Amino acid sequence: MRVLVTGGAGYIGSHAVRALLDAGHAVTVLDDLSTGHRGAIDARATFVQGSVLDGAVVRSALEACDAALHFAARSVVADSAVDPVGYWTTNCGGTLSLLAAMRERGVTRLVFSSTAATYGVRGERPIREDDPQEPINPYGASKLASERAIGDLVAAWPAFSCAILRYFNVAGCAWGLGEDHRPESHLIPILLQAASGRRAGASLFGTDYPTPDGTCVRDYVHVADLVSAHLAALDALSPGQALRFNIGVGRGFSVREVIDAVMRVTGRTFPVTVAPRRAGDPPSLVTDPEQIRSRLGFAPAHGLDDMIRSQWEWWAAHPSGYLT
Ligand code: UFG
Repeated sequence: MRVLVTGGAGYIGSHAVRALLDAGHAVTVLDDLSTGHRGAIDARATFVQGSVLDGAVVRSALEACDAALHFAARSVVADSAVDPVGYWTTNCGGTLSLLAAMRERGVTRLVFSSTAATYGVRGERPIREDDPQEPINPYGASKLASERAIGDLVAAWPAFSCAILRYFNVAGCAWGLGEDHRPESHLIPILLQAASGRRAGASLFGTDYPTPDGTCVRDYVHVADLVSAHLAALDALSPGQALRFNIGVGRGFSVREVIDAVMRVTGRTFPVTVAPRRAGDPPSLVTDPEQIRSRLGFAPAHGLDDMIRSQWEWWAAHPSGYLT
């Protein structure tokens, strides 16, 4: 089938484009290159440069498409606390614009990039898909509102179907693609910058959380495993269906454990400064992976060391990232 990938020049979107093409699908990428990179777009894809907020551009990009994977969004938790209106505009506005264009064009299958940040603070127990969603930051709130709009369209349009995929913490890279955010805010890339000397050291945001070592716990999933779940979800869709899955591996690592793993895998040490808590960070986000395992056969092939090593190797080969 032909698939529209919004945000296909971004970190996760570019990996999804590669996986779709390799599986024999045709791909149209829609990206405004505000955070994505021209160099991340596979030459086999059709590229439309434009905003997902622009209805005419989205309608045109959907030409001849059978499905859409919607990644285009702003996705930095702390940033969302500073610019909530921007997050609501891009994330909800972008989703509504895409839904309207899909309805108009008769494109009936959507895979939506949602997030563990929709759950908020859930305590010790691994998070299940039917747990309450009570986001504590505008990023999570904007994604939850988008989920609800998508669910409403499934109820209103019998031919339509969606897979809402709530990612836990995505890391690693594959197929010569990388993770290159400017500025970078995610833990593993920042630690790798510190390990390589591209930054003087790293900050550890908060050591007083109610977790075993006092630092935040996250469930890290390799981007190649994550995008394989998108292809499986796309295949599983049938009219009227609304699938909702968490995507993580079901094992949490604290920030201190990730720092230790980065030092071990890279063989480098670097200064780490304890800093205050960062706004909007829940103490622990770990999935119960049972649903996606049993219903989509999801079986992650990569562990934390693979995620760290693949990103370390990509940056060694691309010292200026996509600007190399
Ligand atoms: N952290 C540090 N120092 C840093 C950067 C991060 O201590 O320099 C800590 C954060 O405070 C947090 C943990 O490392 O406790 C992970 O932070 P990230 O920024 O790497 O990732 P987040 O958990 O904030 O967010 C990511 C995605 C979101 C998604 C969320 C779901 O960016 O889009 O995972 O778990 F919603």
